[in-house]
Amino acid sequence: MMVYLNGELIDEQDAHISFDDRGFLFADGVYEVIHIYARHFFEWDRHMARLRRSITGIDLPDIDRTALTKGAEALLEQFNGEEGVLYLEITRGVQPRTHSFPSRDVPPTILMWIRPHQSFSDRMIGDGVSVITVPDDRWAKVWIKTIGLLPNVLAKEKAHKMGVFDAVFVRDGMVTEATSANILIVRQGVLQTAPVTNYILPGITREVVLEIARDQGIPTLLEPFSVEDMYAADEVFLTGTTTEVLPVTRVDGHMIGKEAGPMAVFLLRELRQKANSVS
Ligand SMILES: Cc1ncc(COP(=O)(O)O)c(C=O)c1O
Repeated sequence: MMVYLNGELIDEQDAHISFDDRGFLFADGVYEVIHIYARHFFEWDRHMARLRRSITGIDLPDIDRTALTKGAEALLEQFNGEEGVLYLEITRGVQPRTHSFPSRDVPPTILMWIRPHQSFSDRMIGDGVSVITVPDDRWAKVWIKTIGLLPNVLAKEKAHKMGVFDAVFVRDGMVTEATSANILIVRQGVLQTAPVTNYILPGITREVVLEIARDQGIPTLLEPFSVEDMYAADEVFLTGTTTEVLPVTRVDGHMIGKEAGPMAVFLLRELRQKANSVS
């Protein structure tokens, strides 16, 4: 597989990153994940806008976005599938380990690759998945898409050890998001999700799904909801770049429904249709 590393397209075997890279030492970097549908980057501009906010959020010097776009396009040319995922990571570069920032002339490390996307099976989508709730012990700048994902990794692992698909974070009794997806509920026909604050990642898929809902006349509500609200919801589902729309049918053992709810099924179909028709 070819990867993009610091301006060059090279074989992954030849891609080496120093152990002094600040991404490795401090998780001092940001990332993006972009879905490729029908050989097109879905919502490229929104991902770039969020990347820019993340870059500002960790006080990284801005990067050459034209070069980045060209690199991503070159990778896509090498990719021989229809549907895939671009992973893009930018770290604060390489210097002998010390907490303070390197001088401004240290170039960032920029890495990108594309791998095929593994969709969830129709069966899994149809049945919905189970989740548990866990305390949201992440830092207070979750809106920055940083590569420091240890709380998310630990929560996901806890879910797997309990035999369920994912964990949903809860802060002060209110649901924030899942380990790598946003979470939405449906109550009496109203689609509800937490508003964008410092405590959730402003998901692009969440935004697109809300837009689709509004276009279809589905009422939407950007208000925090509690764990009890979630237990009592008519539907619960996750949204994310790789997750797409994934129905949740059990939360902490409480049944939400026997199978994927109609709103989730509808929004998944609409999302895929939109993504595959954009060129
Ligand atoms: C913590 C978290 N929340 C939400 C999302 C969903 O964001 P998006 O729809 O932009 O992929 C992600 C995606 O990786 C995530 O890691």
